[in-house]
Amino acid sequence: MMKAAIINRFGDIQELHVVSDYPDPKITDDQVLIEVHATSINPIDYKARQGLLQGMFTWHFPVVLGWDVAGKIVAVGKNVTGFSVGERVFARPEIDPTGRFGSYASLMAVDANQLAKIPATITDAQAAAVPLAGETALQMLRRLQVGPGKKVLIQAGAGGVGSFAIQLAKSMGATVATTVSAVNIGLATELGADIVINYHEKRIQDVLTDYDAVLDSVGAVDDGIDILVPGGRLVTISANITPEQKERAKKEGKTVMTGWLEPDGKDLAELAEALKKDQLKVIIDSEFPLTTKGIQDAHTRIESHHARGKIIINVKEKD
Ligand SMILES: NC(=O)c1ccc[n+]([C@@H]2O[C@H](COP(=O)([O-])OP(=O)(O)OC[C@H]3O[C@@H](n4cnc5c(N)ncnc54)[C@H](OP(=O)(O)O)[C@@H]3O)[C@@H](O)[C@H]2O)c1
Repeated sequence: MMKAAIINRFGDIQELHVVSDYPDPKITDDQVLIEVHATSINPIDYKARQGLLQGMFTWHFPVVLGWDVAGKIVAVGKNVTGFSVGERVFARPEIDPTGRFGSYASLMAVDANQLAKIPATITDAQAAAVPLAGETALQMLRRLQVGPGKKVLIQAGAGGVGSFAIQLAKSMGATVATTVSAVNIGLATELGADIVINYHEKRIQDVLTDYDAVLDSVGAVDDGIDILVPGGRLVTISANITPEQKERAKKEGKTVMTGWLEPDGKDLAELAEALKKDQLKVIIDSEFPLTTKGIQDAHTRIESHHARGKIIINVKEKD
């Protein structure tokens, strides 16, 4: 039996509570069992808790949320190669179709092809911050064909995805613009952004023109199309693109897409390499323990929409 934060129905933050007698997950031959040391909170967690993903999954209560894991391997399936018991690993695991085994728990079964090794210099809390947000940033920048000489706007540069995307886009050789509140102008600059826009004071259209790429994470698709050069590309990870927006983009010779992360251990290994070389920094907003209060406070923070970097849950008490 293990510790886990569960919900017994969809609803508000009070539905989250920690139990200590939750059944352990079982691994398949292609999985490893991870003793979870830390996980992180993503906006999908509160959306799932509220029941907004019901069209995508058929979950059975109690449900355990959470899709970032960092910890130590404690068992290995017989088809798994390249990973062994005792190694420190992290992952953005596949979403379990039953909903019963997320990462807000002491143990998690994870497909080996979603794993990467945690560099020795990176703490469990830092590692837990990376998989979902970091893989999303990397994959979306690739879809946007960001590279040397390209100009890219990254919306919400102080957020989980945005803070990784600024750094990755810079390392790809792009000129990076981003949007933040006043309090985060310094952070965005430190992460490498060339142009930092306080979105409370200025519209992106007043500052940016002829951009090659837009990573939209705030649902501002029309604004993004406005600043694209013909031939430019926009990917949104937080909105549905309307038929009108598609039609408009087509007329203007621009490409608009929705993006959805595909968990991939190889991409995570690439991020691990950048972490190891100190080319990628992890920004931690706050840390909480895996207690009922801790997980409820963490959800309150993510729902503020103003987390500065990532919110961490320390699942294993620190030695
Ligand atoms: N499709 C996918 O695969 C995928 C994957 C990951 C995330 N997502 C989605 O992408 C979105 C962002 O995720 P995240 O993890 O980065 O969220 P997050 O960390 O919770 O984002 C918080 C940040 O958003 C900024 N923000 C809020 N409103 C803003 C606005 N109008 N303009 C600019 N910045 C604004 C805040 O910055 P300030 O405090 O500076 O205002 C804060 O730092 C979420 O909707 C999430 O569900 C989708």
